Amino acid sequence: MPVITSKQFRWIEVENYGEMSRLAAAIFEQQLLSKPNSVLGLATGSSPIGFYEALVARFKHGNFSFQEAQSFNLDEYVGVAEANETSYHSYMERHLFSHIDLPVAKRHLPIGMTKNIHAECERYEQAIIQSGGIDLQLLGIGVNGHIGFNEPGTSFTSKTHVVELAEATREENAKYFLSKETVPTHAITMGIETIMNANQIVLLAFGDHKTEAIKRLRFEGISENFPASILKEHPHVTVLFGK
Ligand code: PGA
Repeated sequence: MPVITSKQFRWIEVENYGEMSRLAAAIFEQQLLSKPNSVLGLATGSSPIGFYEALVARFKHGNFSFQEAQSFNLDEYVGVAEANETSYHSYMERHLFSHIDLPVAKRHLPIGMTKNIHAECERYEQAIIQSGGIDLQLLGIGVNGHIGFNEPGTSFTSKTHVVELAEATREENAKYFLSKETVPTHAITMGIETIMNANQIVLLAFGDHKTEAIKRLRFEGISENFPASILKEHPHVTVLFGK
């Protein structure tokens, strides 16, 4: 497992998906052990499924608890009911919340079915601030470099906001829906500044389809055309990647 370290950025190339998942779960366990009332930033998608399995396994082992913690998810689709199996609310219930002791009132996701989207974005951003801020944020990366649903061109100073999903993202996410046409067109997402305000970030990227995005993240300069590139300005990032 070659580890390349620089002052701000830790790159860890993993042998396989299981190793990536276990390493990420170990970082979250450590976070909760050192600060039981941690504010955790969570993500959905295919990358973190093994991570949640590993985290739940560690939780069941009994070393730590989520009782005093709280969580904020990166994003949620607009116009998808929470109970719908394609919502990120449902995803979180399935992969994490139903298996751990995080109190219901402390599980936060943007409300995508709201009548007033802009007020919801503001409420969500304020709720993160009032929690004291995110201690540890989990991220995936889109093939186009998006983080959360912050598509290329998003301002680095963005806060929680509503976005129109890029074609590449709707194509990537079509596997969760009946067809690409039924993938929602909009989502509420933490902004790039919201993400950058987290104290620590762990980014997961696994598989051939992520190789190009990881290469760009490693070797290209910082640009709003590739949102993840701003992470290189963050003081504490671990990228777990492999194929
Ligand atoms: P994935 O998505 O984990 O499903 O690959 C990551 C992302 O788009 O941020």
